[in-house]
Amino acid sequence: MNRRNFIGALAGAATGSLAASALPKIEASTMQAQLEALSVFGRPAGGTFQNGVSRVGYSDEDIAGRKFVMDLMRKAGATVRIDTAGNIFASRPGSETSLPPVLFGSHIDSVPNGGNFDGDLGSLASVEILRILNDRNIVTRRPLTAVIWACEEASFAGSALNGSRIAAGITKADELKQVWRGITKAEAIRRIGGAPERLEAARIAKGAYHAYLELHIEQGGTLAREKVPVGVVEGIVSIDNYEVVIQGFSNHAGTTPMLDRQDALISASHLTLAVREIAISETGGQVGTVGHLEILPNATNVIPGEVRMHIEFRDLSSAKLDRMGEKLKARAAVIATDSRTEIRITRAGHNESAMAATEIQRLIESAANRLRLDSRHLPSGAGHDAQMMATLMPMGMIFVPSIGGISHSPKELSSWQDCANGANILFETVMDLAR
Ligand code: GLV
Ligand code: MN
Ligand code: MN
Repeated sequence: MNRRNFIGALAGAATGSLAASALPKIEASTMQAQLEALSVFGRPAGGTFQNGVSRVGYSDEDIAGRKFVMDLMRKAGATVRIDTAGNIFASRPGSETSLPPVLFGSHIDSVPNGGNFDGDLGSLASVEILRILNDRNIVTRRPLTAVIWACEEASFAGSALNGSRIAAGITKADELKQVWRGITKAEAIRRIGGAPERLEAARIAKGAYHAYLELHIEQGGTLAREKVPVGVVEGIVSIDNYEVVIQGFSNHAGTTPMLDRQDALISASHLTLAVREIAISETGGQVGTVGHLEILPNATNVIPGEVRMHIEFRDLSSAKLDRMGEKLKARAAVIATDSRTEIRITRAGHNESAMAATEIQRLIESAANRLRLDSRHLPSGAGHDAQMMATLMPMGMIFVPSIGGISHSPKELSSWQDCANGANILFETVMDLAR
């Protein structure tokens, strides 16, 4: 769409007199103030913004952050509701109330010891858009809905995209019985205002929304390295998550000869190295990680009797992930025999890769052009709720640079101006889709 068409379309869409060129701008100082305000929920004791955040999904800190964001949504004049999965929706009518709304948002839960941008940027920018429209009495043709997805991170038993997977209708029934840190997933969902006995009510029907948009930090180093302020996401990787339980035998660390041991951690160590070898054994961008490991009994003078770990593989191709999973099982069988331990491997999660709609990629690119910002297309190596929404509606994602490509760390950082640029592109694209 060229600029003239866009202006014409928008002028026709809005009952206010605003044209595209006059679309208000979200300031860098506003994004800074909003992100700093949210960062206190889950901040380490005595720390500052630079010390990052632990706002793990379903935790007390998450609940406090969610309340803060819901208050912002209400101040922005939106109607706020929590669905039965615990996802938060803030809605604003359009001039044609019966049209499917434009949906946009992100998540505010974090990994343990994470940063203040992952999820928070897209969430707060979405609420800010509602606030601006409300303050200026701008009415779009389509209704708008900002969403905060529940527990996006893989912090509950290793499963990620928890709220958006329920909305997409692809959560397995027995997942609700998973226990993590002493509570079931059903109880966790109830803690944040959901109703686990009625999860089907959280399902979003195809056609219920017009499109889904998400603004996010890149979390990798491509944009920062190339000094490009805006990324237009082409697609999101597929993720396989394996739960592994290794059974050895706990015995005295001083009296058991080396060759008589059935040490579960030795077995886990070989398996961890095998994950790396599998990931680098073929060309391509695939990655493999052991990010979670629990040793039992975890005592200095006891041979580890049991290890529980999660293994993750990611790639745009599900076929490649299947191949990596087969190699993992084959390597595990050999390691189990050699170490005289038992290794049980279960695929606990699989998130399908998702492509962004080309039409929305084009809209994001033209929004960047209108704002005179350079942009480039790139894939996402991180998982996002957007990949669940892609199963239901056209999806698009906007990335802004992550300094040093660091994420899932307190050192995660993006410049306030890059944050504001992303927010403004989200705003332009939302308005474009709301015509
Ligand atoms: C989400 O942040 C992921 O693990 O990619
Ligand atoms: Mn994340
Ligand atoms: Mn995220």
